[in-house]
Amino acid sequence: MQRLAGRTALITGAARGIGRAFSEAYVREGASVAIADINLGAAEKAAGEIGDKATAVAMDVTKQESIDAAIATTIANLGGIDILINNAALFTAAPIAGISRQDYETVFAVNVAGTLFTLQAVARHMIERGKGGKIINMASQAGRRGEPLVAVYCATKAAVISLTQSAGLDLIKYGINVNAIAPGVVDGEHWDGVDAFFAEHESKLPGQKKKEVGEAVPFGRMGKPEDLTGMAVFLASREADYIVAQTYNVDGGNWMN
Ligand SMILES: NC(=O)c1ccc[n+]([C@@H]2O[C@H](COP(=O)([O-])OP(=O)(O)OC[C@H]3O[C@@H](n4cnc5c(N)ncnc54)[C@H](O)[C@@H]3O)[C@@H](O)[C@H]2O)c1
Repeated sequence: MQRLAGRTALITGAARGIGRAFSEAYVREGASVAIADINLGAAEKAAGEIGDKATAVAMDVTKQESIDAAIATTIANLGGIDILINNAALFTAAPIAGISRQDYETVFAVNVAGTLFTLQAVARHMIERGKGGKIINMASQAGRRGEPLVAVYCATKAAVISLTQSAGLDLIKYGINVNAIAPGVVDGEHWDGVDAFFAEHESKLPGQKKKEVGEAVPFGRMGKPEDLTGMAVFLASREADYIVAQTYNVDGGNWMN
């Protein structure tokens, strides 16, 4: 049985990594998916590889006009939006003494403002349409506690958890479920950058940080994007109708609350 048959989804930052895996899983489950990304070329390539039920749309979540245009295009192409995944994010790391205001503003603009104002615009559409909906925000174990070199990214993901709670409580009266997924360490291009940062700042060999974090996961390895798709499908399905304002860890056992 396809659990998302006939549903439509907008997934931000879906050209690669976890967002792309979500797009593939949603199409397998019967949904039509708009792969929204600031990198339109990569989004078009991903959509072409996934098949007819995936379409690419240009979207920069830091710009309101781009959010509005991407949502309008998706509604025109797919007939409406049943599911939103706020997945686009940037990672940054620096010791406290080295954080720049510019970097702070850039990362908060994508991870926090991008999440809030995309959620707001899609929620307005869902409210007007009157059919409810599912909104999933991508948090992180980094939002559960601070880390010495990752203050800004951790703060953005703590904000995503908080926004999920507030939006979840506000929007459930319209039949809109807002929940979040908190991954642990998921291998891919994102983590290639993290590994390179730690190689520079903690004098590690390339690949060493990945190896260490993978071995520290109770499951015994880093996650893969596919490890997260079960939760993303479940939270978008009717089976999750009674789940409101929660953040679920999908992290191989790293974190427990
Ligand atoms: N990889 C991990 O270990 C990990 C762990 C915890 C949480 N997460 C979260 O999961 C989500 C996906 O992570 P990932 O590893 O696949 O990331 P990624 O860096 O591989 O992909 C992010 C995507 O977002 C897009 N993007 C960046 N800025 C954008 C903007 N302004 N507008 C629209 N799109 C934009 C990029 O082009 C890219 O395709 C993120 O929210 C991330 O914070 C990842």
